[in-house]
Amino acid sequence: MIIISAMSKDKFIGSGDGMPWNVPEEYAQFLRFVDGQAVVMGRKSFEIFGQDMKTTENFVITRSADGIEGATVCGSIEEAVEKAVATGKTVFSAGGGSIYDQTIPLADTMYLSFIKGDFTGDTKFPEFDENEWDVEKREDHAGFEFVVYKRK
Ligand SMILES: NC(=O)c1ccc[n+]([C@@H]2O[C@H](COP(=O)([O-])OP(=O)(O)OC[C@H]3O[C@@H](n4cnc5c(N)ncnc54)[C@H](OP(=O)(O)O)[C@@H]3O)[C@@H](O)[C@H]2O)c1
Repeated sequence: MIIISAMSKDKFIGSGDGMPWNVPEEYAQFLRFVDGQAVVMGRKSFEIFGQDMKTTENFVITRSADGIEGATVCGSIEEAVEKAVATGKTVFSAGGGSIYDQTIPLADTMYLSFIKGDFTGDTKFPEFDENEWDVEKREDHAGFEFVVYKRK
């Protein structure tokens, strides 16, 4: 599973019901990576980004039994990952904070975009041990730096 996320240099990923920056190139890159693949997301994040995720197979984690249009509802991380893996597609974990926290231990790759500038928010990317990860790629873009981490 691949963790995919964008964050400020202080690791903020969200503010209210969105992201605290507007970097369309980074969001477009996210949509290109997940296009046609399987995506595991928390219910809150799917409410925010789901309208842009019509070409992905979406597995949304919630404790509610209500159906969600455009997604397969899953009652646990394990159920979502199992169903996503069963598609045979590349599986991405696309957040938010609570889902990153629970899926980083299951992932072997992270695609992290570090947005340039100063931004604050109310949701953070979880702390992870840099010693457990190698930086495989580091790319400089106009509004962000893109880093690929591989688990050692
Ligand atoms: N920058 C980025 O790359 C990025 C990516 C994604 C999201 N975000 C930001 O992250 C924020 C949202 O993150 P969040 O942590 O507040 O919410 P979230 O992770 O998107 O969703 C949380 C919800 O997921 C469900 N859930 C979580 N763990 C569960 C489990 N083990 N079993 C069953 N259900 C579970 C619950 O849904 P129910 O309440 O329905 O039971 C919970 O309320 C937003 O600000 C968003 O903009 C940023």
